[in-house]
Amino acid sequence: MNRRYFFILGIGFVFLMQTLVFALIPPPPVNQNMGVYDTLFANLTENNCRGCHASGVPDTHHLLVPAGRYSCTNCHPVLPDGSGITLIRDCIKCHDTTFNGMTIRRPHHETQAALDRHCKTCHGSVVDDYDDGHYIPTYPPSNMTPDTKFKVVNQTSGRKWGGCESCHEQDLTASPFIASNNKTHHRLGNLSGFRNNDNTKCTICHDLHNATYGSDSIRYCERCHSYNSLHNIQWDIANTTTTGGYGHLGPNDCQGCHAWYVAGSLAPGADLIVPSIGSLSTNNVLEGQATAVTIYGDDFVTTVDGVTRSSVVVVAKGTNIVTITPTSISHYKIDVTIPALNKGLYSIYALKDGNMESNRRPLVSAPNMIISSARKVNSTTVTITGSGFGTYDPAYKDFVNVTINEGSAIRSIQITSWSDTLINVMSTDAMTGDTATVNSVYGTGSAQVTN
Ligand code: HEC
Ligand code: HEC
Ligand code: HEC
Ligand code: HEC
Ligand code: HEC
Ligand code: HEC
Ligand code: HEC
Ligand code: HEC
Repeated sequence: MNRRYFFILGIGFVFLMQTLVFALIPPPPVNQNMGVYDTLFANLTENNCRGCHASGVPDTHHLLVPAGRYSCTNCHPVLPDGSGITLIRDCIKCHDTTFNGMTIRRPHHETQAALDRHCKTCHGSVVDDYDDGHYIPTYPPSNMTPDTKFKVVNQTSGRKWGGCESCHEQDLTASPFIASNNKTHHRLGNLSGFRNNDNTKCTICHDLHNATYGSDSIRYCERCHSYNSLHNIQWDIANTTTTGGYGHLGPNDCQGCHAWYVAGSLAPGADLIVPSIGSLSTNNVLEGQATAVTIYGDDFVTTVDGVTRSSVVVVAKGTNIVTITPTSISHYKIDVTIPALNKGLYSIYALKDGNMESNRRPLVSAPNMIISSARKVNSTTVTITGSGFGTYDPAYKDFVNVTINEGSAIRSIQITSWSDTLINVMSTDAMTGDTATVNSVYGTGSAQVTN
């Protein structure tokens, strides 16, 4: 087997390679334009979470109340002196830790998809699923087969060739820091076996017993990084395929992985190019209402060798998916109308040419708070009907409440019943023509009181 550190290099060859690399491949670590930023979960801040969960965060939590899983007091304990409630916005204070007696698990990598090793579900086609039938060569690795780390190092410059580490190297000066490949893969919580000393997990990426190729062979990485997916990673292929350093397909990027192999043609399978989502105009839509959303990113449409491939948009909830044809699409942008959805947490991605998935972003469908009528049904009762009123808890009356007023005249009211669609209010002084306002956790609406 050919392993790293080939000290047999002649001096002249070292100089040749050095010039080549400095001229054409920018220094590692790689830029962070696509995929997930290569850092550790422990480094993420609230801002990083909000980078992907950009809107809809309150709604996604408040939907857990009608689902019967939590009540307001679980997340917003009432202050001991009764003077108010706790309102914490920093995700890190709750997720992957304990808060107010709740033990909240680490997000993402303890979902069923992750535990099932279906990494592609969220990461998209920059990786493969181990069980999707993709091709993994069975011939013994050769000189041109990439190493998990690197094959050659220039002892003077420290530059490497022939493996993932040539470019995906750590950078402790970046913020948050860019972590080494073993750290990004080893610190995935229970998934990688380090958190709970579970050695059975190591074989997801290595092989401890079957020594066909050696425990640390790239062959085992190919369960998730097939050459097909690797050869299709290039950020902004329209503008960067002729420049090294933006992915895997620029001139001499090939040597970064293949070391001894000088490319004569396109890499096999390199034609689809993984699309990637950078941001959405909103992550928050209203239940039951079609919503126009703009998706910004890269490689939604690509033309390689005269063949054009385009994307559709997919909204997914578990295994239920809705496929939507964009209203307009370009390399960098998709305009799409999301059809009416039921309330809940979804995710959204672009699907190119029927099988190439982008990374995902969360999408939250929140109840549409609407008052359809506010009627004075007898001398003391006003009945308000509509949708999206959520639940009521008097401890939170500063946020969730009803007011009835006539200009500056504020009527006295008492809430007698509250459901998601109907509120009964007792009021002796409310009149027809007054304005009734409902403040629910999902929004605010007003209507005129009628007979
Ligand atoms: C599962 C946890 C959870 C539950 C249950 C919950 N909330 Fe919240 N709530 C949050 C979080 C987290 C935020 C902050 C969201 C943000 O900053 O984006 C929030 C924000 C709020 C806000 C401020 C909204 C804003 O963005 O200004 C109010 C008011 C509120 N919650 C009231 C309630 C009420 C009333 C209930 C019960 C009906 C409730 N919450 C139940 C987690 C929860
Ligand atoms: C006050 C504590 C608290 C804070 C602060 C908080 N969360 Fe949560 N969050 C929860 C709890 C509790 C759950 C329910 C977890 C569960 O049941 O697995 C939850 C669930 C979620 C869910 C899943 C909702 C669903 O439908 O299953 C998302 C997404 C989420 N939080 C994102 C965030 C983000 C992003 C932030 C910061 C911007 C944040 N949370 C801040 C307590 C909090
Ligand atoms: C790179 C984008 C990205 C970042 C950064 C991110 N999330 Fe998420 N998150 C997602 C996506 C996409 C989903 C929806 C996955 C699905 O269910 O399809 C999700 C789902 C979740 C869920 C529900 C699923 C679960 O595991 O319970 C929670 C909770 C959550 N995120 C919390 C957080 C918190 C807290 C942070 C910051 C520490 C964070 N997220 C950072 C993309 C991101
Ligand atoms: C539910 C969505 C989801 C699934 C499924 C998922 N991931 Fe992730 N992954 C994320 C999100 C979001 C981040 C960034 C925030 C974090 O670290 O949780 C991330 C970060 C990572 C990182 C570190 C960042 C980087 O670029 O190096 C690695 C490595 C990783 N995931 C590997 C995996 C592996 C391996 C699997 C399958 C066994 C997997 N993920 C399944 C959502 C997911
Ligand atoms: C010639 C330099 C180079 C080499 C060698 C290299 N990569 Fe990359 N890789 C890149 C660049 C540049 C990107 C785009 C990064 C970005 O924009 O975020 C990238 C992106 C990726 C991505 C997409 C997600 C992400 O984290 O950005 C994966 C997965 C990946 N590489 C895996 C590998 C694996 C596995 C190897 C070794 C077999 C490898 N790479 C070797 C340069 C390289
Ligand atoms: C999700 C994939 C993944 C899992 C699971 C995983 N590793 Fe790794 N491991 C990697 C990657 C990527 C590297 C860096 C490239 C390499 O050295 O092969 C690495 C490197 C290593 C190295 C070499 C470290 C060095 O600095 O030279 C050892 C030893 C190792 N892993 C042991 C383990 C053990 C033990 C487990 C189980 C407890 C495990 N790994 C689980 C992906 C993984
Ligand atoms: C179980 C699936 C799985 C296996 C096996 C696996 N990886 Fe990964 N790898 C991932 C995922 C998921 C990502 C994150 C992609 C992204 O950033 O969106 C990733 C990212 C990478 C990256 C890009 C840099 C980074 O940290 O994001 C490199 C390099 C890499 N893997 C190398 C390896 C090596 C070397 C091995 C074998 C030792 C290996 N991987 C095994 C799933 C896997
Ligand atoms: C990110 C790493 C990476 C980069 C960059 C890369 N390749 Fe590959 N390539 C692989 C892997 C992994 C294999 C599978 C090798 C194996 O398992 O023996 C492969 C296999 C190949 C093969 C053999 C395919 C077969 O049928 O066995 C050719 C030819 C090839 N690559 C050409 C290229 C060319 C040309 C480039 C540059 C345009 C390139 N590669 C860039 C990782 C890479």
